[in-house]
Amino acid sequence: MAATASLLRQNSAAAPPSPPSNITSVKKLSESPNLNSIPSNYAYYTNYPTETNIASNSDDSIPTIDLSLLTSDNPDLRSKAIQDLDKACQDWGFFMVMVVNHGIPETLMKAMLDVTNEFFNLPEEEKPEFQPKNVVDPIRYGTSFNTAKEKIFCWRDFLKVFVHPQFHCPDKPESLRELLPEYCERTRDVVRKLVKGISESLGLEESEMGEALDLGSTLQIFIANLYPRCPNPDVALGMPPHSDHGLFTLLIENGVGGLQIQHKGRWVNVNALPNSILVNTGDHLEIFSNGKYKSVMHRAVVNNKKTRISIAMANGPSPDTVVSPASQLVQTKGCVASYVPMKYKDYLLSQQSNQLNGKSILKQVQIQDY
Ligand code: OGA
Ligand code: NI
Repeated sequence: MAATASLLRQNSAAAPPSPPSNITSVKKLSESPNLNSIPSNYAYYTNYPTETNIASNSDDSIPTIDLSLLTSDNPDLRSKAIQDLDKACQDWGFFMVMVVNHGIPETLMKAMLDVTNEFFNLPEEEKPEFQPKNVVDPIRYGTSFNTAKEKIFCWRDFLKVFVHPQFHCPDKPESLRELLPEYCERTRDVVRKLVKGISESLGLEESEMGEALDLGSTLQIFIANLYPRCPNPDVALGMPPHSDHGLFTLLIENGVGGLQIQHKGRWVNVNALPNSILVNTGDHLEIFSNGKYKSVMHRAVVNNKKTRISIAMANGPSPDTVVSPASQLVQTKGCVASYVPMKYKDYLLSQQSNQLNGKSILKQVQIQDY
């Protein structure tokens, strides 16, 4: 229970000090005339290149999943697709869902990226409050990750919106209100299919995982990221290494790469094939699967040529679900749960109240082997 106690301590200390008053959006900063180098509080690395900064380019070996096979009527095809999903989640914690078969129209993906760009281009006074006071407000616009806690900032502005079980949306741009509900629904549909496949690959009935995590009330968060051109891309970071809190995150980008995942101790560049969706495993998949599917560490790097926009849809259990490893996985003699139970919304609060730091929140619910 030591893990729970330390988390509670952290939560009770969660009220953040006020953010430094001079922090601005990186969009604004990047537009300042003659910006030849970044301010020192954006320098993540000092001695580039280091071992961990060198990314290997093995895009071709990143697994791909054909969603239509996961729902195929042909039992052999479906069983093969489940095996592929199982392998992708175990070996990589990451995969690309292929273009033609994910059910999200290309036009919708493109329109979502366009309207996200439009949001970041709105005059500041038309955007929600910059640097929200509460780290779990349903609509948050800000910069870096949590400037109240950070000394070094990320080269990133964001908009985060809770879109399920209650739908929220900023008032502007108008077309965001029109497009977002459909995009949320379609991405939830993709996640439903993945969860059914994972439920079976864990040896459960198709519907059991969804029921255990109350996914009818799944917490879904729309996260729009803006990474402007950066004069010192070698020392800045768009997002530092971290894992996501939910089950699966679905990411699309505007044709400009920057996402890297950690694979076998190295950083691997991921460039989405046009119109594909990038999917990564999150901490709650690791917890529910009792460590079979580890959440993948990833980060976002920046560049000095083109502004990058990404849209990450985070999909988790329902906020009130107390999540623990699936009971069916730990009932067998000799199996023990490797994670202590915790309510998903408390986990989320803890993650959002702190700095983004690897898998530090997960470690607090993980039972260490002695
Ligand atoms: C995130 C994230 C990476 C990216 O929003 O959690 O990891 O490439 N984004 O934008
Ligand atoms: Ni992430």
